[in-house]
Amino acid sequence: MKEVIISGVGKYIPSKVVTNDMLSDFIDTSDEWISTRTGIKTRYITTGEDTSDIASKAALQAIENSKINVLDIGLIIVATSTPDTFMPSTACIVQKNIGAKNAYSFDLSAACSGFIYILDTAKCIMKEKNIKNALIIGAEAMSKALNWSDRTTCVLFGDGAGAVVLSLSKEEGIIDTICKTKSDKWECLTIGAKEVKNPYIDENEKIKNSSKGYYLEMEGSEIFKFATSTINKLIKEILQNNNIDLEDIRYIIPHQANERIIKISAKKLNIDIEKFFINISNYGNTSAASIPIAIQEMDQKGLLKKGDNIIIVGFGAGLTSGVSLIKW
Ligand code: ACO
Repeated sequence: MKEVIISGVGKYIPSKVVTNDMLSDFIDTSDEWISTRTGIKTRYITTGEDTSDIASKAALQAIENSKINVLDIGLIIVATSTPDTFMPSTACIVQKNIGAKNAYSFDLSAACSGFIYILDTAKCIMKEKNIKNALIIGAEAMSKALNWSDRTTCVLFGDGAGAVVLSLSKEEGIIDTICKTKSDKWECLTIGAKEVKNPYIDENEKIKNSSKGYYLEMEGSEIFKFATSTINKLIKEILQNNNIDLEDIRYIIPHQANERIIKISAKKLNIDIEKFFINISNYGNTSAASIPIAIQEMDQKGLLKKGDNIIIVGFGAGLTSGVSLIKW
């Protein structure tokens, strides 16, 4: 029982759909600009549910899908950049909401690569500590971190969560994962937190801190360059490490940030775009939730067959990136 498999999947998307045209009612943008630059047509936005609410609903669906008892979950990890609170972790709130009394829980912050980081982290912990079942969730209420008057960012993101139950098994599942961080460009994509404020504050530090905005700020072209040079390299690296050819991969599930990024990556790998699963037109960029949402959707549509090799690949703030090779 020393392998780790995906034994259940779930997702939750808030019900409020926001079209590109609806955004052009209050910012200077258009359906034409957003669709051609990003591939996004709609996104779903929370009307009050916070990240833990969204995450808990996805989690309950994954638990039902896996058919395990909630009390048999030993570990919960939530990947998010939009936690309910700095303290406690969103994972603790999810644990309470779903009644997973026997788990220990924490959040992990790796932005849009978060799901790949928690997949690897959970696998290592499960094997080391012999934890039979873990629940990992990518969940975001990105809408609360957006500056809704900044057209360069607010059109790109959506809210939602995807959850996966991982179980120890004799069968092969999560074959390999590579995680990387290239931190020299960390300032290209940020969501600020609280500034340092206390009776002993140094005036110079005060100036440095005041530049930290609370809202998401992004140098889009830098992220674009990073993503289009990273995805193909990571895929090649994991294939080479595991002695597998690209032809033996059924699907590549990329982080859904921009359809153009995915198309350029397919071209660089010299493969048909059909090998990539793309649903960004519907959800926008849901950050850490985008990959598990895609996995659930593919499973629901019957696209994933037992024994298929799939690759998930992501990139995000940090700048983080990661890739996993999975046998379904
Ligand atoms: N509507 C209309 N015009 C717009 C909009 C908008 N929503 N946003 C920007 N523009 C304008 C700009 O002001 C600019 O006008 P100007 O030429 O008069 O100055 C023009 O459109 C071009 O802007 P660019 O930023 O050069 O547009 P670009 O083609 O680079 O596309 C985009 C921008 C879509 C953000 C692209 O750079 C991108 O996708 N980058 C990657 C972003 C990404 O993946 N982020 C998520 C990372 S994952 C994570 O960790 C969260």
